[in-house]
Amino acid sequence: MNQGDMGLTRSGFPVHFMQEGQRKEQFMDFYEVVNCRRTIRDFENEEIPEGILVKIIDAALKAPTNDHMRDWHYIIIRDKEVAVSLLDIVPKGISDEDMNQLIRDWNLNDSLQQECYRNAVPKQYRMLFDASAIIVPLLKEKTDILHPENVSHLNGFASIWCSIENIFLAATAEGYGCNLRIPLGNEGKHAKKVLEIPDDFFMPCFIGIGKPKNGIEPVSQKEIHVRDRIHWEKF
Ligand SMILES: Cc1cc2nc3c(=O)[nH]c(=O)nc-3n(C[C@H](O)[C@H](O)[C@H](O)COP(=O)(O)O)c2cc1C
Repeated sequence: MNQGDMGLTRSGFPVHFMQEGQRKEQFMDFYEVVNCRRTIRDFENEEIPEGILVKIIDAALKAPTNDHMRDWHYIIIRDKEVAVSLLDIVPKGISDEDMNQLIRDWNLNDSLQQECYRNAVPKQYRMLFDASAIIVPLLKEKTDILHPENVSHLNGFASIWCSIENIFLAATAEGYGCNLRIPLGNEGKHAKKVLEIPDDFFMPCFIGIGKPKNGIEPVSQKEIHVRDRIHWEKF
């Protein structure tokens, strides 16, 4: 059976760049999905069908798990009124002066890295508010994730991040895009209150998901040559 028989495409184009009609018949292969996944912070005003959201979360629940329990839950927020309350304490922008200070405080010395932050930081509120949905992944906190005694105490945290990557890849395969924000300051506590999250659940991030805005160019990333990063037999 060849690639075509399986209904796969090797076109190299992300699904969201294809014509509307094509999207239903053609699927990206695994490497196309990996290569096309980019953080998306600008969205079209378009809903995501519930069935697609369920499919994406089903992919999330297939991720590797440290203790075989997959005690993960996902709150999906489509109601803008809930989004307003949830994002109430996320900064709505940043002045040039504060942005420059942040770059100094965080020791961001690389110019391309600075460009990434200059693009992302001002969009933290809108990239979530303008998304078709906000996904809040949750894991049952069985160890003290913020004060681990050894690396195994972070296994639950590592597992939910595997699940988050599955969300990004599944969203890409479906022609959507995601961003993420790590909750800063009291944002985690605030989210717990607004979304009525039980005390023993930990929220690693907010995820914004939606249809990438037409014509957007994701921010350039550092070029990395794979062979520079592989060390055969020893470092
Ligand atoms: C652990 C982690 C934390 C991140 N935190 C944020 C964040 O708080 N806000 C944000 O806009 N993007 C965040 N990102 C997304 C990165 O900015 C993005 O992945 C990076 O610029 C590479 O771009 P790409 O995803 O398009 O390849 C985070 C990514 C990771 C893996």
